Amino acid sequence: MNDTDRGLIFPPAAVGHSLLQLPPLALYIHIPWCVRKCPYCDFNSHTASPELPETEYVDALLADLERDLPLAHGRELTSIFFGGGTPSLFSAEALGRLLEGVQQRIRFASDIEITLEANPGTFEQNKFRAYRQLGINRLSIGVQSFQQAKLEALGRIHNGDEAMRAADMARNAGFDNFNLDLMHGLPDQSLDDALGDLRQAIALAPTHLSWYQLTLEPNTVFWNQPPVLPEDDTLWDIQEAGQALLAEHGYGQYEVSAYAQEGRRARHNLNYWSFGDFLGIGAGAHAKLSSPDGQILRSWKTRLPKDYLDPKKSFQAGAKALTVDELPFEFLMNALRLTEGVPAELFSQRTGLPLADFAKAREQAQKRGLLVADPERLVATPEGQLFLNDLLQYFLP
Ligand SMILES: C[S@@+](CC[C@H](N)C(=O)[O-])C[C@H]1O[C@@H](n2cnc3c(N)ncnc32)[C@H](O)[C@@H]1O
Ligand code: SF4
Repeated sequence: MNDTDRGLIFPPAAVGHSLLQLPPLALYIHIPWCVRKCPYCDFNSHTASPELPETEYVDALLADLERDLPLAHGRELTSIFFGGGTPSLFSAEALGRLLEGVQQRIRFASDIEITLEANPGTFEQNKFRAYRQLGINRLSIGVQSFQQAKLEALGRIHNGDEAMRAADMARNAGFDNFNLDLMHGLPDQSLDDALGDLRQAIALAPTHLSWYQLTLEPNTVFWNQPPVLPEDDTLWDIQEAGQALLAEHGYGQYEVSAYAQEGRRARHNLNYWSFGDFLGIGAGAHAKLSSPDGQILRSWKTRLPKDYLDPKKSFQAGAKALTVDELPFEFLMNALRLTEGVPAELFSQRTGLPLADFAKAREQAQKRGLLVADPERLVATPEGQLFLNDLLQYFLP
């Protein structure tokens, strides 16, 4: 296969409505390597060999982007997210060349948010200043827990001290906007353990906290050899007390696992949840892209790094045009994760479908107490958030 064959394959257009205005556009860049695979992780991450193929990978990412460019339809980028894997394994030189290449191909919004996922190890922290100088203006640091025993149970390679220092290192490097990823519901975790982690995180004053409940995912070590997790009652207590603690300290919950200080919600993630568009480049990256004729395409890239780097293979592994029937579910599956939901008019702006066609489904979901009875907004009740799948059933074809 020659280089020009590595691009997008379009399935036939399947929808018959049009969009008056295309949604905002973001870019996701996947870096698929980690020092070691964590036993709970089902992300597309692979153990790194001592020498990462940085140069080849950056070349491939830019070639991949080049081929997707027509799908931007002239839009500027409102956010970029380097996710992984562990993007902070890459040198500032490599990321600098990549960002420069992206900017040569596609305009950046003047207030673009550029986030990089980083692990708290010392090796990574030494690079924070250089990352900031590249224009990366937000870090997302994977702390998970501050307690040594919990970090060991999770198979993490950083220790509690490194976790504590990472926030200071980020701030000293010029990041006034950073997120900490924490997990709860960890093996043998008590309510006090979980709240202790949250208190330590709050003391470091991040602008944003992602607080995930540990889930056992198929194809992970934990799935095959499950650790002892807290009982449901304890999980419930952790959730309730944790939310209250975060609220007390000015971290407003705006999505299932996302909490932010005023004005610091993650723009990149908000774009996903409001059914915005995103390009996805890198091994296994997903994209969702709308075109003016109303076609909404989901596509995904070749998953294994060695295949993605193979010039004889296509970057793209698959694509699917969403049908009219699938659109309401797809839109609401994202939008109803947001604690405040979305303005009702966003539904037709993003899907091209009249919301009036779903009046009956809305009414039924409201009667069941799953959807708030507000004509101006689409928002789940607290019960609807808890039983989102039940709520979404009303919007299935
Ligand atoms: C792409 S991952 C990892 C980023 C970075 N490599 C790290 O581990 O810190 C993003 C976040 O998802 C969360 N996560 C990963 N696997 C999870 C699981 N099985 N259950 C709950 N949260 C998980 C972790 O908090 C992690 O920081
Ligand atoms: S949790 Fe993060 S560091 Fe661990 S394997 Fe997954 S992506 Fe890599």
